[in-house]
This record gives sequence, structure tokens and C-alpha cells, in this order.
Amino acid sequence: MRIGVLTSGGDCPGLNAVIRSVVHRAVVDHGDEVIGFHDGWKGLLEADYRKLDLDAVGGILARGGTILGSSRVQPAHLRDGVERARGHVADLGLDAIIPIGGEGTLKAAHLLSQAGLPIVGVPKTIDNDIASTDVTFGFDTAVGVATEALDRLKTTAESHQRVMVVEVMGRHTGWIALHSGMAAGAHAIVVPERPFDIDELTAIVGERFSAGKRFAIVVVAEGAKPRPGSMRFEEGGTDMYGHERFAGIGNLLAVELEDRLGKEARPVILGHVQRGGTPTAYDRVLATRFGWHAVEAAHRGEFGMLTALRGTDIVMVPLAEAVQTLKTVPSDRYAEAQNVL
Ligand code: F6P
Repeated sequence: MRIGVLTSGGDCPGLNAVIRSVVHRAVVDHGDEVIGFHDGWKGLLEADYRKLDLDAVGGILARGGTILGSSRVQPAHLRDGVERARGHVADLGLDAIIPIGGEGTLKAAHLLSQAGLPIVGVPKTIDNDIASTDVTFGFDTAVGVATEALDRLKTTAESHQRVMVVEVMGRHTGWIALHSGMAAGAHAIVVPERPFDIDELTAIVGERFSAGKRFAIVVVAEGAKPRPGSMRFEEGGTDMYGHERFAGIGNLLAVELEDRLGKEARPVILGHVQRGGTPTAYDRVLATRFGWHAVEAAHRGEFGMLTALRGTDIVMVPLAEAVQTLKTVPSDRYAEAQNVL
């Protein structure tokens, strides 16, 4: 069998572990040939690839990022490129393509699969928002990075009697905010799943200081939104010191809380630090299992499917099902955390 693998969309710790696992299972156990397309779908559309043998994947298990490179491709561009992709798949004699990616990549994978290409998808995202799988690799690593940051910020916040507003990743869902906030004992967690009430947040933080506590930690997912019209400060303008404000919910919340409480507040935008560096053991194992099962599915001719974790088992799920909705944080999880707005 000849298998093509690619990584597409925002990178994520564990991508290299999947690539390594695909090569090990396919080349060593099945005697297959594996090629890796460069920079995501772009590599498939431009037939830009290299052969992946055991040497090519040596020493990459614990390395962050992706040795193949990644990019985001516009769906329209991909739609226009379906025939080109089909031509390259035929010319290269590929029997299977394993794209590793998040929401956008899986939608593209579904599109190509519907066009008849032999696709077996592997889900990835630090956001943990792919509906068909209990967990995506990269999430555990990102939560670990965010938790360590929150732990560290507590001591400096306490020294200065400050509010720390820590913005974590999560465009559409609050999984990283919820888990890191719970793990670090944050005093308030703000998620995109429901527009937050700034009065409620101000009260939670204010009560802490009134009770004699010297600091407060607020975790906010980057996609969180206030109830329309409820904030004193909106995007743009200057803060109480006349400094120009940056856009972004972390910055806005820090300015707003400082103004409302008369307490110093500092925004900390964790950003891409959550995506970089070595994957945790959990993420390496999940990524390795996904890679192994993707190769097996290809050998069974199970195309148009994607690997998924259900409980402790890896199962195959139709791509059509996986791209329907995002996995948002269910409201009973807010109750467990107690301080989700
Ligand atoms: O989807 C993963 C993610 O890390 C989001 O949490 C974040 O909003 C986005 O990617 C950032 O993308 P980019 O790397 O293109 O800035």
C-alpha cells in the first residue's frame, strides 16, 4: 500500500507522534510506503512531498510542531483543487491519504472524501472541540502549560494585590479555560459557550478582596463575549492611564475590572505558548494510537472515516458525523467547577 500523510491547520503538540506512528505501523508492520505532503493540503494540491521512512521519523516522538509543516487553506481554494488533488493521488499511486487536523481540515477531508478520494482522518486540536472524539491530543499539553502559568501568576499577583486576567486559547469553546482554571483553582472562569455578565464577574472578584484576600485569578477563553452593551470599555480607545488598549477579551476585561474595582489588574495573553513544545505523555500515547488505527482502517479500506477516542477505546467514526457540530462544554461541567460564569 502507498499512504500519503499531511498535517493541516493550526499545529498542536503530538502531530509528530502521529506521523511517526503511521510510518512505524505502515512501513515496519505492513511493508507499505509512506510519503508526507508539505504544509498541509497545499502539499497535496502542489504535489510537494517527501518519502517518510524510519530514519525520517527518528527522534520526533517528543518534538512539538510538525516535521511536515502546516498551513490553513481556504475551503474555496480546496474545492477548486479537487481535480488536481485527484490527479496527484493517481499519479503518485496513493491508496490512502491520512490528513491530521482540526475542524477546518476535517471539513476539507470530508469534501475530498465525498469526491471519492481514499481518506482516513485523524483529529487534532488543543481546543478539544471535535465532536466525535472524547479527547484530542494536544489538549492535555495545552492545559498543562496554562495551569503552570496560572500557578506562577498567583505568587506575583499576591505580592502586588492584583487581579490577573489570563486569556487562554479557545475560539469557540472553553475546554482549556475550564480545565486549567479547575486545575489551578482560578477564582473565575469565563467561557465562550455563554455570554458573561460583567457585573457578576466584578462581584466575584470584588468579594474576594472584601474578604481580605490579596489577589484574584480570572481565566478567560479568547472567544468569550460579554453580554452586548454591558461593558464600560469596548474595543479600541484608551485605559484609565491614557494608554492605548489592545483588542482582545483578556485586555478588555483587565481594563474593565481595574476601572470597576479600583484594583490593579494585569492581562496575560498566553497565546501560542500553549501550542508549542513537547507533548505530554498522555498526548503522545493518544497520538500514537490514532496513527496506528488510521493505518489499520486504511488497510481495511474504511475510508471517509476518522479515528476517535470513546472511553478508552479507539473507534472509527464517519467524517460526515465528525464535522456536524463542535463539542462545547456541557453546562453540568460548569456546576462542577463552581466558578464558571
Ligand atoms: O484551533 C486552535 C487554535 O489554537 C485556537 O485556539 C486559536 O484561536 C487558533 O488556533 C489560532 O490560530 P493561528 O495559529 O492561526 O493564530
